Amino acid sequence: MKYSEYSVVVIGSGAAGLYASLKIAQQINLPEGVLLVSKSVLGASNSRYAQGGIVGVVHQNPDDNINLHIKDTLKAGAGLSDEKVTEEISSASDAVLNDLITNGVEFDKDDKGNLTFTLEAAHSVRRILHSGGDATGKGITEALVRAVKNNDTIQIMENSMAVELLISSNKECKGVIIYNEQTGEHEIVYSSAVILATGGAGQVYKYTTNPDGATGDGIALAYEAGAEIEDMEFIQFHPTALAISPDSKNRFLISEAVRGEGAKLINKNGEEFMSKYSDKRELAPRDVVTRAIFKEMSLEKTNNVFLNASIIGLDKIMKRFPTISGRCKENGIDMAKRPIPVAPAAHYTMGGIKADVEGRTSIKGLYAIGETACTGLHGANRLASNSLLECVVCAYELADYLSFTNLDTPKIIDEGIKKMIDVYNRSVKGKEYDYTVLKSKLKDIMWNYVGIIRNEAGLITAQKEVEKLKNDFKRQRKCLNQGEYEYRNMLTVASIIIESALERKESRGAHCRSDYTQTLPEAFHSNIDKLSKKGLSYVK
Ligand code: FAD
Ligand code: SIN
Repeated sequence: MKYSEYSVVVIGSGAAGLYASLKIAQQINLPEGVLLVSKSVLGASNSRYAQGGIVGVVHQNPDDNINLHIKDTLKAGAGLSDEKVTEEISSASDAVLNDLITNGVEFDKDDKGNLTFTLEAAHSVRRILHSGGDATGKGITEALVRAVKNNDTIQIMENSMAVELLISSNKECKGVIIYNEQTGEHEIVYSSAVILATGGAGQVYKYTTNPDGATGDGIALAYEAGAEIEDMEFIQFHPTALAISPDSKNRFLISEAVRGEGAKLINKNGEEFMSKYSDKRELAPRDVVTRAIFKEMSLEKTNNVFLNASIIGLDKIMKRFPTISGRCKENGIDMAKRPIPVAPAAHYTMGGIKADVEGRTSIKGLYAIGETACTGLHGANRLASNSLLECVVCAYELADYLSFTNLDTPKIIDEGIKKMIDVYNRSVKGKEYDYTVLKSKLKDIMWNYVGIIRNEAGLITAQKEVEKLKNDFKRQRKCLNQGEYEYRNMLTVASIIIESALERKESRGAHCRSDYTQTLPEAFHSNIDKLSKKGLSYVK
């Protein structure tokens, strides 16, 4: 196999991966340079689709402060958000958001040139910065892609998928195996710092707001490498994805900011229903709104409810929501006049590879940032727009940490690494699998039994069905194409979600069990690692 050596390799080109690459290249003079690897074209990611915005506890906003933001985050996190982590991320937000602006990100401003802030559910003040009205992710990723391309110390490898981490016999990460779908070839990248910025796993569910690439690859790779994985039962289902028909599976998001600007949820008879579920109504935490909609849909036996945005008025809709109103129009809906059909969809993976704010995982040399990581910020239910903030703050802090770390001697081959490379040097036996059909079977299982409301019988059914799919998929580690690799990873991630959901015999935040409706007095994290299996750690 072909090989190369880099001081740092970043996997993934969403907000976390792009910004980490940029900050590392700007801050550190690396002997062997930075390599940025991306499964698709640069910038293609969940980040690209972010709408509502990014939390900015910035000096430009006199109404906000760190303590308020911490309070809101901890409250939404339902007892599982880590206070210290939240404080670190919140405190860094002013410096990092202003650094993004310096690096070319443009946030929306009013006529006087002041930044404008919007409101989303469970935030006590307007604190969310946005770009292009409702195209914040596009604004951030396009600016970062430009900055990365203009920095000639960053090498870019597109259409290339990380498929295995190289772990030495003394359990350190020393590189990664990359598969290129266009050439069909595998290659080795040796590095003393491998950064996973591979995003979430929304694609393991039938209905999701996530694009096709969100197959949880980083979580699966880290798990196989023996890293600790935390809180995977907490999958956030966004309440309002555009539900034109039950056949539309990758669902376009109708941002929470639309409710932040006054839109109301109504049932098929045009009746508002949120007051039955929360005194915060449409702006209750996301898990509460999702379950309310789910219940209304079950009661009415319908596939969706509706969001009445006419109250916002045409002028504001055009200014604040050009992307959303455009997509509604393509589907024959004038959102200033007609209610939008909406239903919940899998949106965000709260758990992930256990990591601190600098991205350090339980394996030396392996770092995780962004949605693939679990820092403890989001707890059991992420506060809207905290995700992009976490991506950029952790990328910034990791670059800072690496500037004090020895990044020499990337190429090390010992017995452990040699064994792994051997697997990828062998040829794969058998025909290609129809991965589209297999993925879809898995997504149905996850939606039906491991979705918004769970119970023991359903979770055990899911466990058995997924085990069967695993047994039928006769691949060792090496696969024949990208779709097979993604399916391999989705099976791993689905199993971890099911195991963790079975383990948590309570309802908390986004994890809702009809057989254990109570929240236990003591909050705990669920941890899984391949070697020592399952564990719990109690929140102090
Ligand atoms: P991603 O942006 O998902 O990037 C992952 C990258 O890794 C991609 O480039 C992908 O191609 C690459 N990759 C994956 N696997 C591999 C592999 N094996 N090898 C190589 N490359 C790989 N959050 C907010 O804070 N505010 C919002 O307004 C908001 N709106 C959202 C709207 C939508 C529709 C969605 C889906 C999410 C939204 N979120 C929002 C959540 C937020 O966008 C994501 O959590 C965040 O962007 C994740 O960034 P990331 O860099 O960690 O991962
Ligand atoms: C949205 O705009 O509703 C999504 C915000 C988020 O996921 O944080």
